[in-house]
Amino acid sequence: MTETAKQDRVLIFDTTLRDGEQSPGATMSHDEKLEIAALLDEMGVDIIEAGFPIASEGDFEAVRDIAKNSKNSVICGLARASTRDIDRCMEAVKFAARPRIHTFIGTSPLHREITALSMDEMADQIHETVTHARNLTDNVQWSPMDAIRTEHDYLCRVVEIAIKAGATTINIPDTVGYTTPRESADIIRMLLERVPGADEIVFATHCHNDLGMATANALAAVEAGARQIECTINGLGERAGNTALEEVVMALKVRHDIMPYTTGVDTTKIMNISRRVAQVSGFPVQFNKAIVGKNAFAHESGIHQDGMLKNKETFEIMRPQDVGLSGTSLPLGKHSGRAALRAKLDDMGYPMADNQLKDVFVRFKDLADRKKEVFDDDLVALLRDAGAAE
Ligand code: KIV
Ligand code: ZN
Repeated sequence: MTETAKQDRVLIFDTTLRDGEQSPGATMSHDEKLEIAALLDEMGVDIIEAGFPIASEGDFEAVRDIAKNSKNSVICGLARASTRDIDRCMEAVKFAARPRIHTFIGTSPLHREITALSMDEMADQIHETVTHARNLTDNVQWSPMDAIRTEHDYLCRVVEIAIKAGATTINIPDTVGYTTPRESADIIRMLLERVPGADEIVFATHCHNDLGMATANALAAVEAGARQIECTINGLGERAGNTALEEVVMALKVRHDIMPYTTGVDTTKIMNISRRVAQVSGFPVQFNKAIVGKNAFAHESGIHQDGMLKNKETFEIMRPQDVGLSGTSLPLGKHSGRAALRAKLDDMGYPMADNQLKDVFVRFKDLADRKKEVFDDDLVALLRDAGAAE
């Protein structure tokens, strides 16, 4: 394994504002983008991909202003493999203390056909454009789009060209969410073994979630030697989305015993940014979404609630406080048991004697059969009916 790949620090590259915003309907305003970038910067994201400067005047201005305001994060802009794109990108990111140009071209047979470039012509274009970017900044990332469906020999060849031309990060995108954990790891391992100069750069993994494996594929790539994960808040992104930042960061924290890698992310900021991204993008978070879903730390069944009241580790593998929540939630519903009802009533200031609780519990079950969730107001009304409250 190379020196870079031996290090245990994994860089977090957030692309909510670029790949995430490409999600149909997720457009964010200039001010919203600045606000999200400030939250990402504050939470310790290493690199923020702020947009695609040549795509529109609005994108250019957003990248430029994020670059001007960023405090700690590297600010990156996307550019196709053209000197015009790269120049425009540099004009926007140059205001950052630490700017990065990210340039890419589709290298798989399908993409070569679309661009009508032969393998040799594309190789020349990669050499020219990466060299051009490197003459503008010493922080250049290059991506062979659709890397997973690119012939392995050609992938090794173009990665070597990009490294020789000065790329400092090589990103391996699974553009269509087609790979599996084993293949994702094998490709990183192959590149580390076969490409001269691979030990001097950082390999990144960029996964899409079309088969629901984006997080697993990103983590497998890290285990094979990738040291940058590209991801978005809430997994926002085209089609089924990208690797979710909160999932990879929490997986590395919770399973540090078998994945001994660290990130610089302050995980207690996760819930806040997740809610803001959901609001500004207009993409609500599904209730059962890992880490940030409304139900991720909620337990309704009697057995689980009873277990949680005795020892939180029975049904929680991470502390809600570690992602910025105040605590576990034990919503009352038809699966809830007596222990959770008692705890809830205690909390609300209605401690019950056993015989009183027995009666209230029967009434509660009757109500819960008719209602999805029983709220505090419902309980007060129920206590009044039972003569247990004023
Ligand atoms: O999915 C992809 O291939 C991309 C590239 C532009 C890196 O987003
Ligand atoms: Zn992508």
